[in-house]
Formats: sequence, structure tokens, C-alpha cells
Amino acid sequence: MESKEKARKRIEELYKLIEYYDRKYFIENNPVISDQEYDILVDELSELERRYPEFARPDSPTKRVGGKPVDQFKTVRHEIPMLSIDNTYNEEELREFDRRIKRALGRDVEYFCELKIDGVAVSLLYEKGVLVRGATRGDGFVGDDVTENIKTIRNIPLIVPIDQKMEIRGEVYMLKLDFERLNREKINLGEEPFANPRNATAGSLKLLNPKEVARRRLRFFVYSGFFEKEGPATQKQVLQFLENTGFPVNPERTAAKSIEEAIEFCTNWENKRYELPYAIDGIVIKVNSIRDQEILGSTLKSPRWAVAFKFPAEQATTLIKDIIVQVGRTGTLTPVAILEPVHLAGTKVTRASLHNFDEIERLDVRIGDRVFVEKAGEIIPKVVKVVKESRTGQEVRIKPPEKCPVCGSAVVKEEDEVAYRCPNVSCPAQVKERILHFGSRKAMNIQGLGERIVDVIVDTGLVRDYADLYSLKSEQIERIERMGEISSRKLVENIQLSKNAPFQNLIYALGIRRIGERASETLAENFASIDELRKADEEQIASIPEIGFEAARSIKEFFDNPGNNEVIEKLRKAGVSMARTQPIKKHGKLSGMRFVITGTMKNYTREEMKTELKKHGARVVESISRETDYLIVGENPGSKLEKAKNLGIKIITEEEAIKMLRGEI
Ligand code: IVH
Repeated sequence: MESKEKARKRIEELYKLIEYYDRKYFIENNPVISDQEYDILVDELSELERRYPEFARPDSPTKRVGGKPVDQFKTVRHEIPMLSIDNTYNEEELREFDRRIKRALGRDVEYFCELKIDGVAVSLLYEKGVLVRGATRGDGFVGDDVTENIKTIRNIPLIVPIDQKMEIRGEVYMLKLDFERLNREKINLGEEPFANPRNATAGSLKLLNPKEVARRRLRFFVYSGFFEKEGPATQKQVLQFLENTGFPVNPERTAAKSIEEAIEFCTNWENKRYELPYAIDGIVIKVNSIRDQEILGSTLKSPRWAVAFKFPAEQATTLIKDIIVQVGRTGTLTPVAILEPVHLAGTKVTRASLHNFDEIERLDVRIGDRVFVEKAGEIIPKVVKVVKESRTGQEVRIKPPEKCPVCGSAVVKEEDEVAYRCPNVSCPAQVKERILHFGSRKAMNIQGLGERIVDVIVDTGLVRDYADLYSLKSEQIERIERMGEISSRKLVENIQLSKNAPFQNLIYALGIRRIGERASETLAENFASIDELRKADEEQIASIPEIGFEAARSIKEFFDNPGNNEVIEKLRKAGVSMARTQPIKKHGKLSGMRFVITGTMKNYTREEMKTELKKHGARVVESISRETDYLIVGENPGSKLEKAKNLGIKIITEEEAIKMLRGEI
């Protein structure tokens, strides 16, 4: 009896815990436990439900782990056809849509604007509050019955407090992050990766094994609902009602009093879309009143009351005309694809990075291939996939070059690295890149030192390294380059001004491998001058949080090179500031200590607590290990608490952590 009661309590507790983790994961996008830890809880619940079925809830999370594989899907006919939406590509077309609506109704209307999620449309049927069927769109009239797969999607409610029959429609999608993880896994298994999150979602929904679908972390946003009896009167209210009922509704939505307001929503999201963790391909504008929607009706293909404003495509296919090799600042050879020009996300693209030769191998890219190119927020587009079906057999494979394409030195490849490199530090390509980096905004910030001028001063031998910049005379620049007197003088002035750049900028400007902006800042906090940094031994540098061994080795290698030291001496002679001028608080009081946080904080958000700890020199990491010094425990702690107890790690409350920050304990 006792143990049965215990089981009931534990089952209740597990429901609450899993619900909490689901909320963190799906709604707040802030998972607090790992997948494995989550799975352990679901397994425990599953076992308890097996032994005590009387306590099992019909909407238990154990129903989401996926049932038995099927041979093929049954087909289903949609009671109401799943139409598509007409696309528009500019503001004028939206105004035209608005005129059509007003003409048909003879009056003004209010619109409702939503993000157009770039996923896969599905229909969910609920009867007496239970999800009884999930289906794909198919051809709009007949789709596949993918109920078992749909049930694995953790933010689709299995049970809702609604009695009447209703059909819910929405978009299944995948976070960009989950898409990348899935592709990494596929690549490791030697399988073809997906070209984009939408293809990955469609492919996942079509899997015959629901257990595999459960692992894909699909998600759902609802965008419409049809009710057997009376439903809400506007699209706005439909979504609000569905949200209150427990469906995930995208929060980025708004009513618009006029088409101009709707256009504003569109242009606003066109710029902001890359901030979202999932892909959208436009905005959907709907007539808000459901009654008006009914009056307007549909054509065979699409409703007259809705329109999609499509963003310029992020992905396109084009031809690879050539693959060239560029030499970077540290000698890294980067293959670059020369493309048949193609319009992508609003710009004309002629080149795409191929990153390295492993990537060429992985994608199996050849000259003459038709490829998918993508530009999602980044400035440089990349090749994501080859369209193998388009091959003619004439495509040409390329191999890593044996000689540097610029200086002809024999190319080297270090064993633990993917990159091929030109080892010649005086290779003109490297020299130019180093000088450009030295003058860049976050380094010495020398305005006017662009690619064109650097090409000339290096090619004419006026400048052999970045220290030579400081002896440049404006007459010299004027003579060699068709540059006006004023701009030559201005450039020399800017070069001279840069002598007083902050110490951390100088460290960054030196162009040491693996030392980016952030590491330069940390180094400047820990060493007062270049000489101090040069004298430090590798271990001392590596012990600084956020630096690590690899970076420490790069620093050592840099200062072990006599050529580099000569250049530094030249900089010193030229009068470049080589030390910290402002005092920086050195080690914080929590320096070197490692913290992990679990549960919800009362006084801070987790991010704020992290920032505070870091300000005082602490490291904040995600998972507990033997190296952890303190676990800060908030409300509803996750499994980290158990783990910390097992490892004997010091456990403190939020209040105690605050006292530590204040220096009171
Ligand atoms: S409303 C009659 N709202 O876009 C069509 N669709 O090209 C009603 N989509 O098949 C659809 N986000 O898969 C609507 N907020 C949204 C949407 C959305 C994405 C998809 C949907 C549809 C396609 C139309």
C-alpha cells in the first residue's frame, strides 16, 4: 500500500518536473537539463506507469517517445481542403491586395499579421478534447496520416479542455540549431545532410519510425482553427483562444488597422528575421474578421482573404564556374567558389566560401556543379549542397594545391588541423592580409587603409610588414598611387594617430593565431605590457580562464619567432604604445572559481547572475563536473542538484551567492 502511494506521488512529481522542463525548453527556449537527463526522467515515468497503469495520464509525456514503426502511411482526405496562399513580393502588390478586398466588401477592414514559418503544414484533429489524427497537407485534398509522428512533437497538446470537434492547422518546424545538430550527425554517419530546416522537417515527418522522429526535436506553431460549433469572431481571437487552450502560438503577431500598418510589420521583420532561432520566409496578412473571410471565400487554389509577403530568398541554386584558392593572414588556404551570378537575399552573389578542403570533400563539390547557395544573416554566402542529379559527368574535381598560388612555397598541413597553409610569412598575400587586419577597426583602427592601397604599398616594396606603415610619408603614397594630396596626408595622419590605440587593440592587431578580440581583451587585463606577455610561460597563460592551451601555444609560437620580435621592436621604435595605460582591475574576487547554476533565481535572471559572477572573474559553465566549485541552487532545481550531491560539490543558495558577490562571505 505504502509503495503504491509512493509510486502515485512520484508519478505526480515526474509529471510536474517534465512539464517544467518542457516549458523551459519549448516556451522559454532555455533548456535546463540535457537530453539524456530528460530521457532518464521519462524512462522512470514509463516504468512506473507500466506497473501502476491506474495512475497514468492519457496525455503523459511517455506517449511522446514514439510507437512502433509502420510500413507505410494511410492516406486521409481533408474535410476542408488545405489551400495555399498567393505570394506578393513588394509593397505595391500588397496595396493591390488591399484594394481588391475593399472593392469586394465595399468598406475598410482590419488585418492580422503573422510570421510565415518556413516549415511543413499539418492538420490536427481533436475529438472530445483528444488528438485523434495528425496529417500532412499532401496535395491539399489528400495527405498522409502521420498521427504517431505528430504525437512525438512535445509542444503539441495531446489533450485539450475543449469538448467540440475541432481541426487545428499550423506549421511543424525545426530550430536552426537542431537542424545543424541533425546535419552534423548525418555527416558523421556518412549520410547526405539536408539542405535547409524545412527539408529536414519534411523528411522527419515522413519517417516510418516514430522513435526516430521523437529524436528530431520538431516543434509546432498553430495558425488557424476550425470549430464544429461556434468559434471566435476574429483571427486575433482564434489565436488567443488557442493559446489559452495550451497550443503554441507564435508571439510575434499583430492586428493592423490598415495595409500601411501591415506593410510596416513586413519591412520590420525583413530586417529582424535573422534574430529568430527558426527560419521564416515571409509574413502572412489575413483579413481579421472570420465573417469577412467567409464572405470573401476562396478560389480553387487559395483564399481571397489572405496574402503572403515573401522575403527575398535566402537560398538559390547556381553553377560553380571555378574554384580558386585565397591565402589568408596566417597563411591558411581557403577555397572559394566563383559562381554564375545569382540573386540571393536582395544582393547579387558571385562568390561563396567553401571554408576548407575537407568541406569540398564532404560536399563533394566539383567545378561545373549546380549547387545550393545560402545567405542566412551572414555576409558571405556559403555552398550548402550539390544537386547531384544535375551532373553531366563533365564536372572537374579539385585537389588541395601543392604550392601556394601567390608565392609558390610548398604548402604544409599540420596533422591535427584541417587547413592547408602557406608557411612563408613573407608571402605577399599573407603580408597584405596582416596589414589589413592590423589597420582594421577593432585593431589599430586606421581609417583609409583599404585593400587597394595595401596592394600597392606591398607590391611596390614600400611596406614589408605592419611596422613599416609608421615610416610611410604622404609624398610616397601620393607618388605611387593616384591618390590626392589631402587623402594621402590624412592616411599618414591616421597611421600616426593609431600609435596610441588601447593595449588590447594592439594585442589583437598583432594577428596572433587564435587570438581574437575577446582573448585580446582578457590578455590585456592579465598582462600590463607586451614584454610581460612575452615573458609569461605557456602554462601561466593557459591558466587564465577563457584562454586555454591552444591559444597559449599560439602566443608562445608567435613570440618564439625572431621575425615577429623584430617587427615588435620596430613598432616600439616608431613610438607605438606597448603597454596598458589605464589600470584594469586584475583578478576578481571569484577569479578561477567555477560555478554552475540550476533552477530559477528570485532576484536575478540566470543570465544576470552569470554576468555578475563573470564580472568578478568566475567561470560559469553548464554542466557539473569534478572541477565545479559551487552549485547555485534556485527554485525547482534540475538533476544537477543530485549530481552535485553525489560528487560532493559545495551547494549554495542564491542568497549565499549574492553574499559572495558582495564579498560578505
Ligand atoms: S495561413 C489557406 N499562416 O504557408 C492557407 N500559413 O504558402 C492558410 N504558413 O501552407 C495558411 N506560416 O504551411 C498561414 N502564419 C501562417 C503561416 C502559414 C506558415 C505556411 C502554410 C501554408 C503556406 C502557404
